[in-house]
Amino acid sequence: MTPHLTDTLTAIARRGGRVTVLTGAGISAESGIPTFRGPEGYWTVGSKVYQPQEMATQAMFARRPEAVWRWYLYRRGVCLHAEPNAGHRALAQLEARLGDRFTLITQNVDGLHLRAGNSAARTYQIHGNIHFMRCAQSCTADVYPIPASVPPKGKDDPLTDADRRALRCPRCGGMTRPHVLWFDEYYDETWYRFKSSLRVAAQTDLLIVVGTSGATNLPNQVAWQVTRRGGVVVDVNLQTNPFAELARATGGFALQGPAAQILPALAETLERGADSDNRP
Ligand code: APR
Repeated sequence: MTPHLTDTLTAIARRGGRVTVLTGAGISAESGIPTFRGPEGYWTVGSKVYQPQEMATQAMFARRPEAVWRWYLYRRGVCLHAEPNAGHRALAQLEARLGDRFTLITQNVDGLHLRAGNSAARTYQIHGNIHFMRCAQSCTADVYPIPASVPPKGKDDPLTDADRRALRCPRCGGMTRPHVLWFDEYYDETWYRFKSSLRVAAQTDLLIVVGTSGATNLPNQVAWQVTRRGGVVVDVNLQTNPFAELARATGGFALQGPAAQILPALAETLERGADSDNRP
C-alpha cells in the first residue's frame, strides 16, 4: 500500500464515506473455485463439449434441462466443499465495522460471502445463488433452497427419480431451474437487484473492484456511475482489466496481486480510518 492509497482510504472512512465492494470469480479462486473464463469450466453432454457460455443459457435449459441441472449440481458441490478465504473474511469484518455505509455487489453465485458473514441485506447477488432454485415457468417470484435431499453430483452422475421429484416447484409442481442469471437473460430488480445496485453506485464514495474481468454489463455501469460523481475506484486483480484502466484514468488505484492478500490490508486501513472518525 502506498502512502497515497492509505491517506485516500483513511480520509474516506474518517468522513463517513460510503464504500461499495464489487466482486467477481477471482475472489473465490483462492478458495478453489475455478474462475468462469479459466480453463476448467467446460462440460460434456453426450459426446459434445460445451463452454459455460453455452451451458449457462435459457436456450440450453429449454433443450436439455437435465443436463443443465446436472452441471449446476456438480458446480454446487464444488462450492459446498470450498471455504471462504481471507479476502471474504476481510469483507465480512469491514461490513461489521461500517454497517449501513457498506454494500457488497457480487457476481459470484457460490454463496461464500454469506458464509463468511456478510449480511443478506447488504449483499446484492446480481447473478443469483447456486444453492437456490425457482419455478422455471415463473409461477411465483419466490426462490427456494435446493432441498438437502438432492446431493452434489460427480461429473458423470445422472439425476435420480428422487432428485427429479425434489427439484419440482413447491407451488405449482412444475420444473424448477437454478436461481442464476443466464447469458441470454437480462438483469432485473426482483431477482438480481439491478436498480438497487445502480442506486448504491450513485451514492458511493469508494468502489473496490475485486477479481473480475469486466465481461458483464451491470458491473461496468456501476463503476461508471461511481466515477461520474467523483468516487474513487480501487481495482484488485492478478491482471490488468477494464476496471484497472478506469481506476488509472480517474485518479484511482490498480493493485495487482491476489485478493486474499490485498483485501485484508485495504479493509484494515478503512476500519482504522472509521475508528478515528471523531465527528460529533
Ligand atoms: N485475486 C484477484 N484476482 C484474481 C484472482 C485472485 N486470486 N484469480 C483470478 N483473478 C482474476 C482474473 O485475472 C480475472 O480478471 O479474476 C478474474 C476472473 O474473471 P472471470 O473468470 O471472467 O470471472 P468474472 O469476471 O466474475 O465473470 C463475470 O461472467 O460468466 C459470467 O456470470 C458469470 O459471474 C460471472 C461473470
